Amino acid sequence: MQIDSNNTSVPSRSSGVRQFEVGEDLVLTSDSMAERVDGTTGDRRAMTLNFSGSAIWRLCDGQRSLEEIAEQLAGEFSADKSVLDDQVKSFVDRLIAEGFLTLKDGLLPDRLASGMYLTPPEYLNFFENNRKRVRPLGLGFSKVRLDPELHERLRNHLAANVHNFRSEDTERLVRTEDSRVIPSVVYLDAAFNRQVLTELQPAHEEWSGMPLNQAACFGVRVYQNGSYLFNHIDHSRTHVVSGTICIDSKLRRPWPLYIEDQDGNPHEVSIEPGEMVFFEGARLMHGRPYPMDGDYYASMFVHYTPIGWDLDDEA
Ligand SMILES: [Fe+2]
Repeated sequence: MQIDSNNTSVPSRSSGVRQFEVGEDLVLTSDSMAERVDGTTGDRRAMTLNFSGSAIWRLCDGQRSLEEIAEQLAGEFSADKSVLDDQVKSFVDRLIAEGFLTLKDGLLPDRLASGMYLTPPEYLNFFENNRKRVRPLGLGFSKVRLDPELHERLRNHLAANVHNFRSEDTERLVRTEDSRVIPSVVYLDAAFNRQVLTELQPAHEEWSGMPLNQAACFGVRVYQNGSYLFNHIDHSRTHVVSGTICIDSKLRRPWPLYIEDQDGNPHEVSIEPGEMVFFEGARLMHGRPYPMDGDYYASMFVHYTPIGWDLDDEA
């Protein structure tokens, strides 16, 4: 999913990116926080920038447009700006593709009068193509209460690990209106997550009416004030039968899950602490497209696939 820049785009450093000076080079590192069912985390990326790359990176401060970056470099190095325009654009596009930069003003999302942010059309095309590959299971979504003992354990897990949360790379699906805070933080404890995935498997099998394999557990994500999550379709290989859990929240206004049913009709479902919504993650458009008004909202996500699920066999 790559969105190209243009010369009015304002590149901004992605959350979770660190930089180190190694001799004359600059090394960037970034952790992808997606956790797989085997407990490993996703790609940890690193990239070494040479002198000219570092010069561009240092000017990607979330304030300057590509045009302004090229202008400044042309002045500093007495270089031809038209050549620098191309170099800056191709280098910034590469950093976006690698996840080190995001575009700020070049990707301003549309917003409805209701306050709902609309998923950028480039993303929608990507989701629609994925959805076409997934056979509908005809399940839709439904809300249930968690076992109180499990809920208590989840709350304790959250409280005991507040200091372990880190800012999250969310492939730009989670944004914020409040520039003073990062959109979301996450904590991944592989053993704990696997345990939750195992405990919730029977409930998902009962709801879906079929035997399932454990596919993924995201860990705990805590959304911050002003956050919103673009409506999206989940990963088609793993997020087929899914559950989204509210562990705890402190909200000033309701912050419902937006979810479309199998016929495309929109619904808003408030998920209170101790509640869980089963849904077909890879089929139903869902998100939290309104900015959150509150202190925090802590969620956990579990995902399963039908036995023998092989996308290559699906229509
Ligand atoms: Fe999702």
